[in-house]
Amino acid sequence: MAERVQLTREEEILVVTIMNPPVNALSPGIPEAIDAAIASAGEDPSIRAVIIIGHGATFICGADIKELQKLAHGEERAGVSLRDVLDRIELCPVPVTCAIHGSALGGGLELAMACHYRVAAAGSQVGQPEVKIGIIPGAAGTQRLPRLVGLRLAAEMCASGRMVTLKEAAEAGLFDRVVEGDLLEETIAFTRERLADGDDAPRTRDRAVPDLNAPGIKEDLARLRDKTRRRSRGAVAPEMAIDAVEVAGTTSFEEGCALEERLFESCLNSDECRAMIHVFFGERQVRKIPDVPRETETLPISQVAVVGAGTMGGGITMAYVDAGIPVILKEAGQDELEKGLDRIRKNYEVSVQRGRITPDQVSERMNRISGTTDYEGFQEADLVVEAVFEGLELKRKVFSELAEVTRPGTILASNTSTLDIDAIAESSGRPEMVIGHHFFSPANVMRLLEIVRGRETSRSVIATSMAIAKRLGKVGVLVGNCRGFVGNRMFGPYMREAQFLLEEGASVEFVDSTMVAFGMAMGPLAVGDLAGLDVGWRIRKEFWDTEPEGARRQTVADRLCEMGCFGQKTGSGWYRYEKGGRNGVHDPTVTQLIDQCAREAGIQTRDISPEEVMERTLYSLANEGARILSEGHAMRASDIDIIYLNGYGFPSCQGGPMWYADRLGLDRVLGRIKDFEAAHGSSWAPAPLLEELASTGQTFSGWSSG
Ligand code: NAI
Repeated sequence: MAERVQLTREEEILVVTIMNPPVNALSPGIPEAIDAAIASAGEDPSIRAVIIIGHGATFICGADIKELQKLAHGEERAGVSLRDVLDRIELCPVPVTCAIHGSALGGGLELAMACHYRVAAAGSQVGQPEVKIGIIPGAAGTQRLPRLVGLRLAAEMCASGRMVTLKEAAEAGLFDRVVEGDLLEETIAFTRERLADGDDAPRTRDRAVPDLNAPGIKEDLARLRDKTRRRSRGAVAPEMAIDAVEVAGTTSFEEGCALEERLFESCLNSDECRAMIHVFFGERQVRKIPDVPRETETLPISQVAVVGAGTMGGGITMAYVDAGIPVILKEAGQDELEKGLDRIRKNYEVSVQRGRITPDQVSERMNRISGTTDYEGFQEADLVVEAVFEGLELKRKVFSELAEVTRPGTILASNTSTLDIDAIAESSGRPEMVIGHHFFSPANVMRLLEIVRGRETSRSVIATSMAIAKRLGKVGVLVGNCRGFVGNRMFGPYMREAQFLLEEGASVEFVDSTMVAFGMAMGPLAVGDLAGLDVGWRIRKEFWDTEPEGARRQTVADRLCEMGCFGQKTGSGWYRYEKGGRNGVHDPTVTQLIDQCAREAGIQTRDISPEEVMERTLYSLANEGARILSEGHAMRASDIDIIYLNGYGFPSCQGGPMWYADRLGLDRVLGRIKDFEAAHGSSWAPAPLLEELASTGQTFSGWSSG
């Protein structure tokens, strides 16, 4: 361990350098080595001060999540407790100063706060992001932070996990000095000044909370609590973080630490924490593609072209120009082009009104877009994203034109949500350059990009697509070419069950509110209204002829569409909307329609429990997910979870649909699916992979196609 924590001397100062790349995490052995260094400083009379600094790109970015994962799964804690080490730093008889650069996160910030002084370099940021893995700070962060920056900011930081900039943290009083020059040299100078002043090594624990008696503080914390409850979508750690910070204002440091410890332990031993750690690793795993190794060559992308300036093409254009990449935007006609550009500008103006960007940035971004109604400039494009109407013949025509007007090395991507990528690729004559880039609406906001691999898509086109997702700040998930790919294919049965429940006696509001209470960003029926009920209707109609005899149809949704009720865009769908409004209200005519459809189909209505709503919708996701996995259209179960978390509003504290099924136990899930099959027919036939795993006591997350 000695080499990961290096001790050097600057005359009377002991410099402790953490060298644990890439982020100087507090892996096992590192707290122990810091502890030993602090002990030696206390005993060696020639040491008059200590500096703790990080080597490489950053200060300390928190705990080693692999270690936390072991604890969350019940392993015994090994090594010293960080809380105790930090106490010993604070009680060290000589002053300890930490020198922060890059990020001080989680345990890193807690360590910094236990030091007597904090010096920060330009560009540093700090945060307590523990809630993002379902826990709260556990090394007295909730007690020291409010003593340094006040209850308001401390509670907000611990509840949200947000990164705080140098400026904001400095203004709140977290740092004793902010420096521009060489960090170590400046920190040594700072330390010597303190020593010359006859330093008394001030302890954070002894400080008064600065805003304890500020006017409105109670109300502000209550408001934060409400907001946190609304936003955390079923996660409990964020509110617990507020509980822990709040007591810093009413009890001693020791009592506050005791409460923090109890809450921390209960978080660590929770499904929420295990689920969120699964998500943390899932996001890293998703980049690993067995036959496309990291060293695969990527193609340079400095000019993009987008075909179609509708809802998706406009959003995709914004995603690129926001990332600094210029776009040539092609529309069918001048009117459509102007409309598309206008919509983009209006979207940016809304961002200006909300204070997210400046008017100068709007002009800068608009200047990166050049509109065209022919393929002018496409020779320059390194990548084309097609987002014209959803129709195979139109897309094939566009791709054959693209083959003519672009260089042979240009990547040709389609944003289709349902069509066969191979059929599109074939029309281009260079299928190895063709791939699906399935963005989600609004494309400049939603984090998910499903990257659809065609039969002949080249490895470097896949590697480049994954790299592009990263450049756009998105999470790219590689999926196979099947109808609806992964996300929408699973969404079909989910939506189907949501509305079958209506015919069986559940109300629209009950189904939606049950799923929102589970943690979904929106209820399934409200999502249908947002996306447009006509989309699913068109797809269903295409496949009516191939449905098995006697299959139950989504009659209510079909009738709504026949009546022209497509959801928000027509002012009515499952809900009724004020003109241009987004908040749906109850629509009694929909209730009548549901009753009528149920009567016609001879369905006896009954009381439906919230459990049944959750089981029918969530198990239908897992069952379809199991089919997708065994067919090889997703590489691993965690990829499906990442898709659902980032594209479909699934709550991260539940880990994703596959993780959720694993947690309940696949035998239990299978048992209910068999009940549903008996009651509702073949659409509930269990996926063979689910049966196999359930019978052998395995899980989706432990399964690999081998
Ligand atoms: P949209 O109807 O808003 O836009 C399509 C645009 O393409 C229209 O502005 C049309 O004028 C233009 N266009 C048609 N032919 C053209 C041509 N030859 N050259 C240039 N422009 C042409 O449709 P939307 O919703 O943007 O969908 C586009 C594609 O994205 C479809 O394949 C759809 O399945 C897919 N998609 C849609 C999502 C959504 O939520 N709307 C989500 C993900 C994918």
